[in-house]
Amino acid sequence: MADDKLSLLDTNTMNPKPARLSKLHTSPTLGELLMRVEDAQSDTSGPNTPRPPHRVLDLTYACSSVPPSYPFVLSFNNLTYSVKVRQKMSLSSCFSKNNTTFDNSTLISKVLLNDISGEAREGEIMAVLGASGSGKSTLIDALADRISKESLKGSVTLNGEVLESRLLKVISAYVMQDDLLFPMLTVEETLMFSAEFRLPRSLSRSKKKARVQALIDQLGLRNAAKTVIGDEGHRGVSGGERRRVSIGIDIIHDPIVLFLDEPTSGLDSTSAFMVVKVLQRIAQSGSIVIMSIHQPSYRILSLLDRLIFLSHGQTVYSGSPTSLPRFFAEFGHPIPEKDNRTEFALDLIRELEEDPEGTKSLVEFNKTWQAKKTERNNNCHDGPKLSLKDAISASISRGKLVSGAPNNSTLASSVPTFANPFWIEIMVVAKRSLTNSSRMPELFGIRLGAVLVTGIILATMFWQLDNSPRGAQERLGFFAFAMSTTFYTCAEAIPVFLQERYIFMRETAYNAYRRSSYVLAHSLISIPSLIFLSFTFAATTFWAVGLAGGLQGFFFFLFTIFAAFWAGSSFVTFLSGVVSHVMLGYTVVVAILAYFLLFSGFFISRDRIPPYWLWFHYLSLVKYPYEGVLQNEFDDPVKCFVRGVQLFDNSPLGMVPNSLKVDLLKSMSKTLGMNITSTTCVTTGLDILKQQGITDISKWGCVWITVAWGFFFRIMFYVSLLFGSKNKRS
Ligand SMILES: Nc1ncnc2c1ncn2[C@@H]1O[C@H](COP(=O)(O)OP(=O)(O)O)[C@@H](O)[C@H]1O
Ligand SMILES: [Mg+2]
Repeated sequence: MADDKLSLLDTNTMNPKPARLSKLHTSPTLGELLMRVEDAQSDTSGPNTPRPPHRVLDLTYACSSVPPSYPFVLSFNNLTYSVKVRQKMSLSSCFSKNNTTFDNSTLISKVLLNDISGEAREGEIMAVLGASGSGKSTLIDALADRISKESLKGSVTLNGEVLESRLLKVISAYVMQDDLLFPMLTVEETLMFSAEFRLPRSLSRSKKKARVQALIDQLGLRNAAKTVIGDEGHRGVSGGERRRVSIGIDIIHDPIVLFLDEPTSGLDSTSAFMVVKVLQRIAQSGSIVIMSIHQPSYRILSLLDRLIFLSHGQTVYSGSPTSLPRFFAEFGHPIPEKDNRTEFALDLIRELEEDPEGTKSLVEFNKTWQAKKTERNNNCHDGPKLSLKDAISASISRGKLVSGAPNNSTLASSVPTFANPFWIEIMVVAKRSLTNSSRMPELFGIRLGAVLVTGIILATMFWQLDNSPRGAQERLGFFAFAMSTTFYTCAEAIPVFLQERYIFMRETAYNAYRRSSYVLAHSLISIPSLIFLSFTFAATTFWAVGLAGGLQGFFFFLFTIFAAFWAGSSFVTFLSGVVSHVMLGYTVVVAILAYFLLFSGFFISRDRIPPYWLWFHYLSLVKYPYEGVLQNEFDDPVKCFVRGVQLFDNSPLGMVPNSLKVDLLKSMSKTLGMNITSTTCVTTGLDILKQQGITDISKWGCVWITVAWGFFFRIMFYVSLLFGSKNKRS
């Protein structure tokens, strides 16, 4: 039983189970169908009748070669998409007398897709070709429901039914142009994490493993399975293998429709061929593959089943690769015998593009050619086409669509959004992140080194401060500096998240996990390292500088440092969710932290800050930990910082001989009617706090507010992710 289930998960099997046709008669709802995913996969009774082999190279689409029923057909009709762009103003028009520069009239409509129709079938690869800028990515986006419905005119249907976004998410996959992978995970681990995110929890771990192994074979990655992905600093798998891993991540759930934007770009011809070969295998396992490709080699062309050539968003050719010579011959530009067909076609299109009328003639010619073709095919029937529901049902019982087994749904709209519960997501995200970072210990090492070096420099600079007036002043400086450095050392989080963000965007686009689990997992795993860093910093400085409060004081100091690290890292994480570029991130962090320090109360105490800036003082993240540690230091009421003659330190009278100062004290005492001797305490710690304007919040209040800021920015990070990763064009 278990073995049977395993073999069903193997998409590579050329011997799939027959469809349970009895189910088709009752015509269940989609939700019910998807509910049976598990069911159908485990039900393996029945003879192993082989599926008819796919006709992959049905090149002419003449009646005779149309197979009786292709389960899945994705059709798109009259797709039109335009955007409003601001017309570039020439310099002269800006300075001309009728200066209506930013008038609405400068907004012009740019047509990116112009009335594009076509069809893609299961078992085949449909390729979109064209020069760069011709609209290939836009077309793929339109088909993959990555353009909002309001802006896109025309229809996309699967087996004649308009697809709902949620359903499409479950049955399709979109592979992005860049390989965004965790560099330090092996190929196998990468695919396994994807399996844990995307495959339903009801599927046991061993079956997920089996799926990953089957996929590794399908992708031709057996030899690289145990190799890490690698990055600039670490040797890893080759470019072609990376690309195949990227594809594998997205097809782990065995989607029915697979979209790829230039999957071969940046690869050498052999790797590119391998990638398309893998795509052909995927198509033949029962999927529709739609990809864009810049310039396919001759060998790749032999793997493609349908081509759409675009030029300025218009179709200039649509049909099989074998019909290309006939098409261009009839157009009056026959392809020379030894030429690469697509290269010739693309060159010709480019030539025609130079002349605005040129493309038009080809577009028109293609239209008549298409009309003729439909006429040729019209007098024969496609055979009984399966409805979408039936097709999905049949596909599921063949063992397809490993994802999307819902619990209790009767409607397609209640297709499950996430495969796993919240806490599992947190665990898997955390585990992946820890695995990846534990293999790059140098990252944490650098941060620890930065904290340690700062600690040691501060310890030696402020070595054993005394309790003189100058010592008290230096303590203030030490605290202000120490608290702001904790924030600065958090800035290293920026590039890490900016890199990870694209992975996050891809994964949340297909609902691999909830955004909230990502934020929580991210926060949780940062805490141990923050504790370690805080301890390192507190231990190197506390006794070296000679801070007050003994062990209790140390723990408070440690806790405040930790709170500052926590708030700082949350703040930086939030910023990295808002800014788009590393350098911009650093600039913003450095600027804002400088303002925080300026308004913290160290340079100008609170009562001296102009009232209209006071709000910024309260926003300053440095204020709270700074005031906390200051109170920890100076809250001993009997400790004295200015005693008797020390009153004259830091003033011109500080230079005069001691005996003179004593005389001065005596006469002052007489005048003031107080007895100030050379040992009388003039300023206690509490007085210093008062002078610094630190009177409004208790020391524990300060720490808790710092911690709360940390939580606040984590929540803001979450919000920024909600708004920042819509993944759709407008
Ligand atoms: N949001 C947009 N606003 C204006 N022009 C755009 C926008 N998106 C794409 N374009 C333009 O549309 C054309 C097609 O883009 P694209 O589909 O990315 O081409 P391809 O993938 O074939 O290189 C390009 O000329 C591009 O500059
Ligand atoms: Mg593109």
